[in-house]
Amino acid sequence: MARITAGVGCSHVPAIGVAIDQGITDDDYYRPVFAGFEKSREWIKQANPDVIILVYNDHCTAFDSSVIPTFALGCAAEFQPADEGWGPRPVPVVKNHQILASHLAQSLILDEFDITIMNEMEVDHGLTVPLSVMFGQPEAWPTLVIPIAVNVVMYPPPTGNRCYNLGKAIRKAVESFDEDLNVVIFGTGGMSHQLQYKRAGLINPEWDNAFLDRLTSDPVGLAQMPHVEYLREAGSEGVEMVMWHIMRGALDDHVTEVHRHYHVPASNTAVGHIILENLT
Ligand code: DHB
Ligand code: FE
Repeated sequence: MARITAGVGCSHVPAIGVAIDQGITDDDYYRPVFAGFEKSREWIKQANPDVIILVYNDHCTAFDSSVIPTFALGCAAEFQPADEGWGPRPVPVVKNHQILASHLAQSLILDEFDITIMNEMEVDHGLTVPLSVMFGQPEAWPTLVIPIAVNVVMYPPPTGNRCYNLGKAIRKAVESFDEDLNVVIFGTGGMSHQLQYKRAGLINPEWDNAFLDRLTSDPVGLAQMPHVEYLREAGSEGVEMVMWHIMRGALDDHVTEVHRHYHVPASNTAVGHIILENLT
């Protein structure tokens, strides 16, 4: 059967993608950002997943205010990188495991998670930056990717608790799939950041690190955090972090933290990253 073996949490700062694309990852500003991902690249090479379930948010690229799915599951054969204003990023097309994606759709919907099925979708930096950070600049992505887009842009986003429970339902779906597959799940976005108005530039390292600690030690309690705490402590875009609960909910109750990286800032954002392995 298919199994979820590990989870990866990762910020998706667009400037990090630009640094990779422009070959400036070794300059003084970006060196410490990328140094913390060296171990992650080794780890994912060893882990060698067949499929990544990549939970991310779209930034008014595939969706705008005319359509706002809370949870959208990518079921197309492939997903092209979108043009976000400077042309599409020069990264490979993202290829799906379409049979597993369809199975996820069936299992999740019959399990009473009414997700939106996307048979056509472009993907923005929310999805491509975490892939670039983990895999660099390959000719083709080394694994298949199932995108799950979560609305955190238009009020109201889903609660952390709903996200955590969706993670549990994703695990159940994966474990009821016949093919032997090594699946790794990504929760992306965050950490603390606010991009507009009076608190633009807000970053809260203490709060971010406590979030990372509790992700391992107290995932159920952490998932109960109300939206207003994300907004107050982590800034208006800090609410992206509800997506990490989907990743965490898909893992064992007790996990091993195999790597953590935290750096402030890249662009306007605190960069946070964690790798959690299931014990079983
Ligand atoms: C920035 C961060 C984001 O998460 C995003 O989606 C856009 C911009 C930033 O730090 O500039
Ligand atoms: Fe974002």
